[in-house]
Amino acid sequence: MKIFLAPMVGRTDKYFRKLVRIISPNIVLFTEMITVDSLLRGRFKEYIVKDVEHPVVIQLAGSDKNKFIQCAEIISEQGFDEINLNIGCPSSKVVKGGFGACQIETPSQIAEYVDAIKSHTKTPISIKTRLGLGYEHDLRKIIDFIDQTSNAGCDIYYIHARNAILNGISTRKNRSIPKLRYDDVFKLKEMFPDVKIFINGGIEDIDQIEEMLKIYNGVMIGRKIYNKPMFLAEIENKVFSNSKIFSIEEIVCEYIDELDAADTMNKLFALKHLTNLYKGTGLSKRWRKHLHNLINSNEPIDNLKNFYIENYNEEKKEIIC
Ligand SMILES: Cc1cc2nc3c(=O)[nH]c(=O)nc-3n(C[C@H](O)[C@H](O)[C@H](O)COP(=O)(O)O)c2cc1C
Repeated sequence: MKIFLAPMVGRTDKYFRKLVRIISPNIVLFTEMITVDSLLRGRFKEYIVKDVEHPVVIQLAGSDKNKFIQCAEIISEQGFDEINLNIGCPSSKVVKGGFGACQIETPSQIAEYVDAIKSHTKTPISIKTRLGLGYEHDLRKIIDFIDQTSNAGCDIYYIHARNAILNGISTRKNRSIPKLRYDDVFKLKEMFPDVKIFINGGIEDIDQIEEMLKIYNGVMIGRKIYNKPMFLAEIENKVFSNSKIFSIEEIVCEYIDELDAADTMNKLFALKHLTNLYKGTGLSKRWRKHLHNLINSNEPIDNLKNFYIENYNEEKKEIIC
């Protein structure tokens, strides 16, 4: 039984992953999508996975077999637990580059990449994709895609339960349009009993997770975790039966203590993902204001802890909500 943090550009960077790992020791982390060109040019090349970060999957996008091979070799050295290919991104920029969701149309090429990566590294390989393209509900394309790529050696699929619309709507709209089709993901699972199929898209509460886990061995969640990171504490407690749940104050203190000198220079990046920590509580507005002021000041990151001093009620021995 697994819960995966969905890859999200601009969100699942090393800072957000650090925060997520503190709240949830059990979730499987994903990086943001990184293109093979960008990795080979040097972005991320120096990154070495820390022990606490495991398990962590890196997501790659590209359309060049040799570059995939070179990247796979670097990634194995870095210590990532799995290489995931992005075959689901509908962004026009990505499609122009010849990768992302449009590659559902070229299964034999992706099968070649899978085969090439597998023969150069022992790191497991997986694919994140969608149910198909356009408004068509026909599953033939995705069936052929899984058929060819699994024959080449991919045996893990994360399926965002909707199609990608490549012309006419924005990347953002592509996350709510067209509608989710969980039944079709289930059909794929029934058709491919020898591969692992994990479901993604629109999963927002514990009941839904528990229902999905009766069918799938894993569930991938994106926006709900970013918009309310403390949802992870609920997942830890109710899904993983973990009784050691930290308070938000403990999480913030640990997060700040784990930052190194270089991180503290990068105040905006290091702090922006903490914005939603108090979502749904009486402290949310005050917390966001405190963060905003700190980011825009010359004060050191450590001053974030002043929030607890400023909002502490001496008499009640608790933070004022
Ligand atoms: C801001 C943002 C960035 C995203 N970036 C990526 C990405 O880099 N790679 C990818 O495969 N999916 C990306 N996605 C899609 C998510 O991984 C996920 O499939 C989608 O949000 C549906 O899951 P959810 O309803 O749980 O959020 C992104 C989604 C969001 C909201």
